Amino acid sequence: MTSAKAEGRFVTPSFALEPDGEAPYFRREFTVDTAPERALLHVTALGIVEPYVNGERVGDEVLAPGWTSYRHRVVVSTHDVTALITPGANVLGAIVGEGWAVGRIGFAAVAESGENADRFHYAERPALFARLELTYADHVDVIATDESFQCATGAVLAHSLYDGETYDARREPDGWHTPGFDAAGWTPAVVYPWDPGTLVPRTAEPIRRVEELAPVSVTTSPSGRTIVDFGQNLAGWIRLTTTGEAGRTVTLRHAEILTPDGELDPTSLRTAACVDRYTLRGGGTEIWEPRFTFHGFRYAEIDGPFDEVAAVVVHSDMPRTGWLETSHELVDRFHANAVWSMRGNFVGLPTDCPQRDERMGWTGDIHAFAPAAAFLYDVRGVLGSWLDDLAAEQREKGSVPVTVPDVLGGHLLVPTALWGDVAVALPWILHREYGDPAVLRRAYPSMTAFVHDVEKRLDAEGLWSQGFQFGDWLDPDAPDDDASGGKTDKYLVACAYFAKTTRIMADTARILGETEDAAHFAALDTRVREAFRREFVTPAGRVAGESATAYALAIAFDLLTPEQEAKAGARLAEVVTRAKFAISTGFAGTPLVLPALSKTGHLDEAYRLLLRKRCPSFLYPVTQGATTIWERWDAIRPDGTMHPAEMTSFNHYALGSAVDWLHRTVGGLTPEEPGYRRMRVAPRPGPGLDHAALRHITVHGEVRVSWRVTGTRMDVGVTIPPGTTATVVLPAHPDAAEEHVDAGTHAWSYDLPDGFRPQAGNTLDTPLPVLVGDPDVWPEVAAVFAARLPQVPIAHAAKAGPGTTLRTVLDRYDADAATRDAVSAALGEPTPETRD
Ligand code: BGC
Repeated sequence: MTSAKAEGRFVTPSFALEPDGEAPYFRREFTVDTAPERALLHVTALGIVEPYVNGERVGDEVLAPGWTSYRHRVVVSTHDVTALITPGANVLGAIVGEGWAVGRIGFAAVAESGENADRFHYAERPALFARLELTYADHVDVIATDESFQCATGAVLAHSLYDGETYDARREPDGWHTPGFDAAGWTPAVVYPWDPGTLVPRTAEPIRRVEELAPVSVTTSPSGRTIVDFGQNLAGWIRLTTTGEAGRTVTLRHAEILTPDGELDPTSLRTAACVDRYTLRGGGTEIWEPRFTFHGFRYAEIDGPFDEVAAVVVHSDMPRTGWLETSHELVDRFHANAVWSMRGNFVGLPTDCPQRDERMGWTGDIHAFAPAAAFLYDVRGVLGSWLDDLAAEQREKGSVPVTVPDVLGGHLLVPTALWGDVAVALPWILHREYGDPAVLRRAYPSMTAFVHDVEKRLDAEGLWSQGFQFGDWLDPDAPDDDASGGKTDKYLVACAYFAKTTRIMADTARILGETEDAAHFAALDTRVREAFRREFVTPAGRVAGESATAYALAIAFDLLTPEQEAKAGARLAEVVTRAKFAISTGFAGTPLVLPALSKTGHLDEAYRLLLRKRCPSFLYPVTQGATTIWERWDAIRPDGTMHPAEMTSFNHYALGSAVDWLHRTVGGLTPEEPGYRRMRVAPRPGPGLDHAALRHITVHGEVRVSWRVTGTRMDVGVTIPPGTTATVVLPAHPDAAEEHVDAGTHAWSYDLPDGFRPQAGNTLDTPLPVLVGDPDVWPEVAAVFAARLPQVPIAHAAKAGPGTTLRTVLDRYDADAATRDAVSAALGEPTPETRD
């Protein structure tokens, strides 16, 4: 690519182009005497480019070059087009849509006011860069974009990422990309001023069409419209197959949900229209897909004739590296939903959502989700490239912007916890996953700059106590119109995250041999942690505010003494139990609440939190048919209506960050050394699950872990790749056995200790307030008491202390064996007759 930097300019048509009007077509005809030994096309655009050679679409990338911080980095793709070049006349052509560089991106409310405030972030018109290198035995010929390219418009009449594409097939200039085309009326391109020093080779996997989904239903809505359900919320577009007369238009409207009465509901798209229009040329079967837009959708309303439609799933084509399945159908769907939300939000860069007028690289969302993402897919390419953008934006702006690339015009250009500190967390997560300190070295200036930026804002106590913070964003108890107004003190969140950050920094400096920095960051870390404890923790271990998030942060980030941590764990378990396992955390606490419970020995509570089905909970959206992770716990409320807040999407991965706990604790795999050369396998079965199987492709090869409880027996299987070792902690082993194993397949089978029944859900030992909250069992249990022990004030069970269980009540009232069995049966527990 050095050569691409040296030659070639961006070009654009000389004629006027309307914003979101017709897209420019470019062509250049040239002659070669003999076929070259090799022909390489380097191509990119300010906009979205679709390149052609001699009528053939070049490569399989879509939405190229994707979105980077173009002012600093414009990604160039390189395609081998040797087979397409023939002796004689040839044509290099391209269509360029507005894409992120020119088109509408961002919500105008936060941009400068005025018309077009949310467009032209990088360029006022689409521009093409291409450089075709034809290599012969003794020389290289180069065809590069310059004024010899000719331009016109064609069939693409509108091409907005948010609003959709309009294509009139009658207007396609037939043969425009093949030799001999009559280009009368095409006009020479002009150079578009753009620094070629911004060109960089592609390092991330390109965006591709990854999968196609057939409709699961095509129905007619009450108002008579045709509604197609693809059965899955996704990012991409529809491939349309149609037949009809010339000039008829098929309109494809996309949305994530339907109204309760079955009409398309575009509310979650906000101002993004998400409508594609195709006008037929007539005369046979026509197949069409848009190329310059994408939509976040599950449903489409189709107006006009069509023979067939398919949803084309589009995202960065990263290798899949992580899988998990369990005995619990809803947990598996929750996990699948997180995978689908990742797929929908890795369209070139990590975004918040793929549907509404945002789709931006919000830093906090990927900070929360990155550990899960790095397990599920190989994210080195996409997130490595994004980190380069982050560093570039940070260098230019002096702080990490809240979105990368930044198109909010410096809106909120202050360091923030969970958002800006992704600058430090993400390189560390990538290092831990892939074991390559080069990522730390590359990001080091950005990491240190972030920490220094916060350090200078600390107060005399060492606390991060002023300035804007997102806090525990979207805490379910926050007011509908104030997502950052949750229960947990914003500065507690900020200080806790900063302590995590400073510790990573000290470790990073040590790994990189930056001894002085390491000492500085270690001292800063101690200062921040001590300040946190002084300000927010009682000597005995209560954490200010006593929210689940406050406890989760303090525990997960090692902010407490061992005694305090034990107490805090117990308090967290109590807080969670008292809430009847309703989830009460937002973006900041959700990735940490399950780990904090299991770390402090409250595994049962963690499982109960995971498995609750009523709103709000991890599984509630699953029970409502969700196929992706929702932005809010109650994006669809129990009465079936959509949450009224403007900010309600059905495809936001942040709250799916809890699947990281599934991988580490239910599946049981963690690296003991970055990159998993040494790993720890310690699955922890809990109530409600009797089986889990995990598969993970590490940089050393594939790891498999599985466990299964059958009656009183446990079977564990572990396979690890060559060159690795594992410490295996056998779950619920009577002797708490720990094994050290080398590469290969290992299996264990043993009797479980008495009383260990992970498959059981509620038991006689389940706290009463928990049971009361479980609509699946409580009515039956209450009926048994009414019939057999009417003297028990069972109606007040919800107010019982967490230490009160059915067993303590039955003991207190001297219940007979038959009553005990009846209660057990109501719980779905085996009675003595059925017990083996
Ligand atoms: C986005 C979030 C983001 C937040 C921060 C929202 O509009 O969708 O996920 O992190 O803004 O302000």
